[in-house]
Amino acid sequence: MKKDTFYKVDDRRDLIIPGNKDASVQFAIEHFIVTAQNAIKSHGRFVVALSGGSTPKSIYKALVSEDKSKEINWSKVHLFWGDERPVPPEHEESNYHMAMEAGLGRLPIPTDQIHRMKAEADIENNAAEYEKKIRQTLGKNKGFDLVMLGMGDDGHTASLFPDTKALHEEKKWVVSNEVPQKNTIRMTLTFPCINSAMNIAVYVLGPSKKDMLAKILLHKEKNIDLPSSLIGTKEHKALWIADEDAAELLFHRFGLE
Ligand code: 6PG
Repeated sequence: MKKDTFYKVDDRRDLIIPGNKDASVQFAIEHFIVTAQNAIKSHGRFVVALSGGSTPKSIYKALVSEDKSKEINWSKVHLFWGDERPVPPEHEESNYHMAMEAGLGRLPIPTDQIHRMKAEADIENNAAEYEKKIRQTLGKNKGFDLVMLGMGDDGHTASLFPDTKALHEEKKWVVSNEVPQKNTIRMTLTFPCINSAMNIAVYVLGPSKKDMLAKILLHKEKNIDLPSSLIGTKEHKALWIADEDAAELLFHRFGLE
């Protein structure tokens, strides 16, 4: 594997295959740190939308370690979330809870800069409030410094599941989204928000993702039935970070066989 080689998938997506799972997580950690440092250097703060899922959890855990935690000026960091389940903050299915438990709660981030999604009640109004908070923090016409995303085996990203209403949202940045296939309702960022970000990172690890990843990256066209195919625009490119197992069916396309 040609480590640290960025492959141009098309004009709205790049791909990196750092190696096995560990190498990919290491790359994702470094990418997070460099993105935060660059944002703080260029405009004095780093505003990130966190994701649930397994890779982000490993990133959060690593960020608390002694050598990594000193690489970021945490007083300049603002945490938001990309999606949330309708559960209270102490619930083990809560993405907020996961990030805090994994270590972010132990970092010196001012508490008024940690913005959890309140999806346990009145989700519609709370989504509108959350959007206001994001826009106030970022300022006019600005996107997140980093949006972290994963991709489910069905092609969903954040809580933008196939066949759900939020996929069609063109204006709002945060909405409540009914997800019949999970028999639930979620709060989620929408594509207008995700695709305004300065940096978009999509973490895809493990062999169970290889078919979906190939479907999404081997086709240039956006396909609303595969929500992750809508990530990234020409102006706001997405960086897909995949390990060797997830990227197996892409080796041929990038001459890696
Ligand atoms: C969540 C995420 C969700 C996740 C994907 C992939 O709340 O679970 O926002 O969209 O990123 O399901 O998760 P994995 O990376 O753990 O497979």
